[in-house]
Amino acid sequence: MAQNDIKAIMVVGAGQMGGGIAQVAAVAGYKVFLNDINTEAVKRGYDRIAANLARNVAKGRSTEDETTAALARIMQSVSLDDAKACDLVIEAATENVSLKSEIFRTLDATAPAHAIFATNTSSVPITELAACTGRADKVIGMHFMNPVPVMKLVEIIRGLETDDATFKTIEELGSKLGKTPVEVKDSPGFVSNRILLPMINEAIYCLYENVGAPEAIDTVMKLGMNHPMGPLALADLIGLDTCLSIMEVLYEGFEDSKYRACPLLRQYVQAGRLGVKSGRGFYTYA
Ligand code: CAA
Repeated sequence: MAQNDIKAIMVVGAGQMGGGIAQVAAVAGYKVFLNDINTEAVKRGYDRIAANLARNVAKGRSTEDETTAALARIMQSVSLDDAKACDLVIEAATENVSLKSEIFRTLDATAPAHAIFATNTSSVPITELAACTGRADKVIGMHFMNPVPVMKLVEIIRGLETDDATFKTIEELGSKLGKTPVEVKDSPGFVSNRILLPMINEAIYCLYENVGAPEAIDTVMKLGMNHPMGPLALADLIGLDTCLSIMEVLYEGFEDSKYRACPLLRQYVQAGRLGVKSGRGFYTYA
């Protein structure tokens, strides 16, 4: 299937990543089914998209008419059955391998045979998810960065069986969504998180060992390295539970102690201090 043949996309997961993906897809002209497990979660995601698009109108980046049309292209969905009307599913559910496997098994039974399954996983092997379906040739990684509407990169990852047609379709779709697609191998953490997460983990070690206060650590990296935000603020944005799960994937995947998660990261997650989404991580949020 070529990129031009994709008309309707289901995005599974209406959280910060799924919502962002749905937004860029709707703005690019696709019909989007924004799916989550209950109507509240879907509505929260939809409302966040509406607010983002309204801000774009206020800033003169798009018109009221464009925003109204983009929102009208988004269907709110609480059933994976809706995949039967889709040519592509982009899965952006919680970073949990058994949950993602279950979603892929269910989708395989409902989506049309031609539909491509992309996953926004940041760490689960694409080949493992593909093996949950009878269409491993049409399963691919499409790893967006947070916040999706702003960040230009999408990592594209082939599983062992992904065919060239699927790769080409998804690479072209990435460009159509306004992103720069970069192909990387199906290796733990791909490239982005293999480099980013050890840096974040090291920043947490600096805090753990009292080398600096959170503000000091973040200021060093912002002003000293020109990073747009410090590593601890970025960890709060990504979610500390997600950061921990990626460190565990690196640790187990490479069997290398250099990827050992900082005990303070583990403790914050145990305490429910997950970052922006829970109101408190290394910083406190209103
Ligand atoms: N959704 C939509 N737009 C957003 C947004 C969001 N969640 N957050 C910020 N923006 C927009 C703002 O509205 C603003 O737009 P305007 O130009 O219209 O004002 C623009 O982005 C810049 O935002 P701010 O002025 O508030 O702040 P900023 O200049 O510091 O930019 C940032 C914010 C874009 C998040 C920037 O700090 C940044 O690039 N941070 C690093 C982000 C990063 O590293 N992301 C990768 C995370 S790793 C990952 O995602 C992979 C994984 O698997 C874990």
